[in-house]
Amino acid sequence: MADMLRVKDLVVQRGGREVLHNISLDLPTGEITALLGANGAGKSSLVMTMSGALPAASGSVSLNGVEVLGNTPDTVRRLGIAIVLEGHPVLNNISVIDNLRAAGLMHSRREADREVEAAIEVFPELKPRLQTAAQNLSGGQKQMVVVAQALICRPKYLLIDELSFGLAPAIVQRLGETIAAIAKHGVGILLIEQFTTLALNLANRVYVMERGDMAFSGDAEELRQHPEILHGAYLASGKAAAG
Ligand SMILES: Nc1ncnc2c1ncn2[C@@H]1O[C@H](COP(=O)(O)OP(=O)(O)OP(=O)(O)O)[C@@H](O)[C@H]1O
Ligand SMILES: [Mg+2]
Repeated sequence: MADMLRVKDLVVQRGGREVLHNISLDLPTGEITALLGANGAGKSSLVMTMSGALPAASGSVSLNGVEVLGNTPDTVRRLGIAIVLEGHPVLNNISVIDNLRAAGLMHSRREADREVEAAIEVFPELKPRLQTAAQNLSGGQKQMVVVAQALICRPKYLLIDELSFGLAPAIVQRLGETIAAIAKHGVGILLIEQFTTLALNLANRVYVMERGDMAFSGDAEELRQHPEILHGAYLASGKAAAG
């Protein structure tokens, strides 16, 4: 069987209400899969559950056939699933280099140093900022730190909740190219993105969620040819697709 992160019939409740109804999704390695859908569709709930941050009521999340559900976020990360959380959260009061080292604590000291160095090579923009407190970074630089932290975990799968949120177009372009390069190196990426054009240009496969259900799955090309499918999913939830 090819390497695969597989979500099957996942049901999740939040605040006493079911927010994911029987969600299934396959995430292959080596390519970008986009996850689209209007506000409140359940995208963040899905990736939070996949990363161990939210419990599931039923269903399964399996990594090459091994059940992931029921593990702590820390264990899930060690199994090879890293998440980039919404809103580029960094440890504000400590320096960029210490933010990166904190992500490396799961490795031996030597491995951590090597991974931190490799992550800085991916984002050379961070080099002159390594001693700066993370709170003084721009939004784009913070997002670079957060993606770098995820890479330091040496993930097989990377779940990104809103790559471009609040960032300038030039930075979004830069991050998009980096994500594509990371996928080419064999990582399976799930990309939640408000800018559907960006997501469809980067992705091979696309899933669209609508009010806790999977409304569409198919090739990105199919949605590029038939944008009305996407508009339908967003309009059903009361909001037009951005970008
Ligand atoms: N902390 C919470 N407690 C209870 N319900 C929540 C919580 N966070 C989100 N929800 C509900 O879960 C459902 C799915 O929300 P979720 O945040 O997963 O959607 P989303 O697709 O990520 O939306 P957005 O595009 O706004 O980020 C919504 O109905 C939302 O109101
Ligand atoms: Mg969300």
